[in-house]
Amino acid sequence: MNHQTDTYKLSNGVGVPCIGFGTWQTPDGDVAVNSVRSAIEAGYRHIDTAQAYGNEASVGEGIRQSGIRREDLFITTKLWNMNHSYKLVMSTFEESMNKLGLDYLDLFLIHWPNPAAFRDHWEEANAESWKAMEELYEAGRIRAIGISNFRPHHIEALLKTAKIAPMVNQIRLCPGDTQDETVAYCRAHNMILEAYSPLGVGRIFEVPEMQQLAEKYGHSIAQICIRWSLQRGYLPLPKSVTPSRIQENLRVFDFELDDDDVQLIADLKGCVGFARDPDSAPF
Ligand SMILES: NC(=O)c1ccc[n+]([C@@H]2O[C@H](COP(=O)([O-])OP(=O)(O)OC[C@H]3O[C@@H](n4cnc5c(N)ncnc54)[C@H](OP(=O)(O)O)[C@@H]3O)[C@@H](O)[C@H]2O)c1
Repeated sequence: MNHQTDTYKLSNGVGVPCIGFGTWQTPDGDVAVNSVRSAIEAGYRHIDTAQAYGNEASVGEGIRQSGIRREDLFITTKLWNMNHSYKLVMSTFEESMNKLGLDYLDLFLIHWPNPAAFRDHWEEANAESWKAMEELYEAGRIRAIGISNFRPHHIEALLKTAKIAPMVNQIRLCPGDTQDETVAYCRAHNMILEAYSPLGVGRIFEVPEMQQLAEKYGHSIAQICIRWSLQRGYLPLPKSVTPSRIQENLRVFDFELDDDDVQLIADLKGCVGFARDPDSAPF
C-alpha cells in the first residue's frame, strides 16, 4: 500500500480503500457531522460506523455535506447485538439505511459473535442473521458482508450453514495485540482483516518504545501505528474528531518501517491491553 487511494480487494472483487475512518465514541450531532466531513475533505473514502454507535444519522449528514459522489465512498455499518435474527436484520438494516440516508451499503458486519442476549444459542442466531444478510447482498442492497470480533470457532460455526463466506473480519489489531491465530485463520479463508483501535483507543501515546520509534522515523506515534498496520497487511480504522489529527493519520505513505521495527511493535505484548473475549463480554 503506497497511497491512500490504494484498495484491498475482497473475495468478491469489491475494492476497499486501505484506510478507514473510525467513528466509535464520536458523539451524534455536530461532532460526528463535522468529523466525517473533515475526513472526506482530507481524503478518506471509507467510513466505519455501527448501529450501536448511535451516530449513523450524523455520519450520513457528514457524507452529504462533503459533496463527494456516493460511488466514490465505501460505507460500513454493523448489526447490533440485540438484533440477531432474520427479521431484525431486515428491519434494522432498513433503519440504518434511513438514518444514513443511503440506498445501498458497502459493507454490513455482524458486530459481535456471541451477544449476552443469545449466549445459549448464538450459533443459530448468527446463522439466521447471516441468511438475511446473504439475501440483502444477493438483492444488491449491500456490496459485501462480513463479521467482527469473530474467532475461529465462531467462523467455523457460521460456515456450517453459510452460502456466502464472510469477506471481512474486523477485529482489534494494534501494537502488542496481533491475534495471530484469528489472523492466520482469516487469511486462510480469504478474509480481509480490518484493524480496529489501531491507536489502542488513544493509549498508545504513553508507550515509551513508540515514542522512540517516532523520533527515529520523524513521524508521529499515530502515523507509526497506521503505517505498521498497513505493513502487516491489515486495514486500519483510526478514529479522531480533531481535524489536524484526521489529516495527520493519512500521511503515512512517505516512509516505511524496517522489518525489525514491524516485529518490535508486534511484540509489545499487551502495551495497550488485549481484545475482549467475545464469549464472555457482558453485552
Ligand atoms: N468492531 C468493533 O467492535 C470495534 C471496536 C472498537 C473500535 N472499532 C472501530 O475502530 C475505530 C477506531 O478505534 P477506536 O475508536 O477504538 O480508537 P483508536 O482509533 O485506536 O484511537 C482513537 C483515539 O486516539 C486519538 N487520536 C487519533 N489520532 C490521533 C493523533 N494523530 N494524535 C493523537 N491522538 C490521536 C483520538 O482522539 P480525538 O478523537 O479526540 O482526536 C481518540 O482518543 C472505531 O472508531 C470504530 O470505527 C470497532
